[in-house]
Amino acid sequence: MIINNLKKILLLIILLIEIGQSLVPVERNAHSSVLVDKKLFFFGGYSGHSLKTSKNLDQIIYLDISKPFNTANPPFEEISKTIPFGSSFATAFLSPQKNIIYLFGGIVKDVNTDLDSFKSVLYSYNLETNEWTIPTTNGIAPGRRREMNGVINNKTGKFYVFGGAIDPETGSQNIKVLNDMNIFDTISLTWSKGSSIYAPLPRVDFTTTLLSNGIIVFIGGRETNNFVDVDINQLVLYDTTIDKWSSMMARGVILENRNSHSAVLTPDERIIIFGGCKGMNETILNQLAVLDTKTYPYEWSIPQVSALNSAPPTIYFHSATLIENYMFINFGNNYQINNPELQRPFFYILDVRNFTWVTQFEPEQLPVTTNSVTPIATATITNTSSTNLTAEKSGQIGIILGAVGLSVVIITVAGFLGYKFYKKQKYNRAIPTAGEIQS
Ligand SMILES: *[C@@H]1O[C@H](CO)[C@@H](O)[C@H](O)[C@H]1NC(C)=O
Ligand SMILES: *[C@@H]1O[C@H](CO)[C@@H](O)[C@H](O)[C@H]1NC(C)=O
Ligand SMILES: *[C@@H]1O[C@H](CO)[C@@H](O)[C@H](O)[C@H]1NC(C)=O
Ligand SMILES: *[C@@H]1O[C@H](CO)[C@@H](O)[C@H](O)[C@H]1NC(C)=O
Ligand SMILES: *[C@@H]1O[C@H](CO)[C@@H](O)[C@H](O)[C@H]1NC(C)=O
Repeated sequence: MIINNLKKILLLIILLIEIGQSLVPVERNAHSSVLVDKKLFFFGGYSGHSLKTSKNLDQIIYLDISKPFNTANPPFEEISKTIPFGSSFATAFLSPQKNIIYLFGGIVKDVNTDLDSFKSVLYSYNLETNEWTIPTTNGIAPGRRREMNGVINNKTGKFYVFGGAIDPETGSQNIKVLNDMNIFDTISLTWSKGSSIYAPLPRVDFTTTLLSNGIIVFIGGRETNNFVDVDINQLVLYDTTIDKWSSMMARGVILENRNSHSAVLTPDERIIIFGGCKGMNETILNQLAVLDTKTYPYEWSIPQVSALNSAPPTIYFHSATLIENYMFINFGNNYQINNPELQRPFFYILDVRNFTWVTQFEPEQLPVTTNSVTPIATATITNTSSTNLTAEKSGQIGIILGAVGLSVVIITVAGFLGYKFYKKQKYNRAIPTAGEIQS
């Protein structure tokens, strides 16, 4: 009897210890994120708390969104396989077959030496084999750039990436903002150029959202080599079906301009944007705004945010992902950029049904299990240091996938940034020089 109880207590303690062992990720910003079924992946990022020489992380982590959790203890896991380099300011996307994640552009550093270890503008990560490869592509691949944001049309398998900037961190002597549209066909592995007629001015730190009608909506960011905020009410549109640029003056409220923000698309085709900064470092009064694309012209509004929980601090360089009815805001930077103590692994969740910030995530449909003990036990057995995605995937058969968010979503953003090119002082704060090793 006593022994039995002791056994139970021991088991409970072990369980508690194991549960508490979820990875606590270091703060980061300018990472790339991709949703794959019930896993929200985060690739790289820039961190003052990097454990390696380079502040550009090679780490791949994911958040398990199959189970409920609280943002105080989110179920992050680390993949033992790292990116072959430290990566930040890149953009990532998932193949329509959901087996390959592509990482495009950005800063590419050897994590041990912090030297540029650039080999290809495009890398692929196979979720079944855990292998990174440089895909053999056709056509002329674009040059490396940073602070752009791309999007894949998963019906056609074509990935669209516009603009970005080159600078010494991307292997160029000059600093220059770009305005070319590059298209990568994930079926034929071919690069091509989109139209340059009526293309917008060179731009960085904007968001890219693909609507169901094939139109990409570009919002905000900074333009030209002067890095001035673009007029956020003046929308730039690119129709992927006819390869044509256009622009549209949105109606509704006149929003504050911003850059380095994030955007998600809801199933009813509203674009919700969050965060970012105005100019160099000015705070935005309304961090949240909604663009209704079902009206013509599109219409901006500022949602009535529930006073139930306090809103996040002003952050930028973060990522945003819509998961069912929740907009996840992950990581990012705040304005106290040179105070590492104030940089936290930010994690905020917005219930987009009523614009309420919440701390508890409840997935719509739970995994089918026969009793409540099994999932806990399964979770604790997982050897996180040797995560085998193939095995995990087959283990997930039987999980009813949440219908909504997965499809439309992703779109987002990951690392756009507030990297301040033209002010040397800022430059040094945001991006370390080779001599500046982390404290
Ligand atoms: C913003 O940047 C300007 C110019 O670098 C500086 O004078 C000001 O103190 C900064 N403000 C904040 C809130 O960091
Ligand atoms: C927001 O909507 C959800 C789902 O309908 C509900 O559970 C929650 O109580 C609502 N929150 C507020 C503050 O109204
Ligand atoms: C977890 O995986 C690592 C790497 O494959 C291995 O060395 C270790 O023994 C495993 N631990 C357990 C508990 O299986
Ligand atoms: C993962 O597990 C599957 C099934 O057990 C196995 O076939 C595959 O070789 C493993 N992959 C790796 C990378 O360990
Ligand atoms: C692609 O879109 C369809 C419909 O919107 C969705 O059902 C599917 O899950 C999406 N695939 C990926 C890889 O996101």
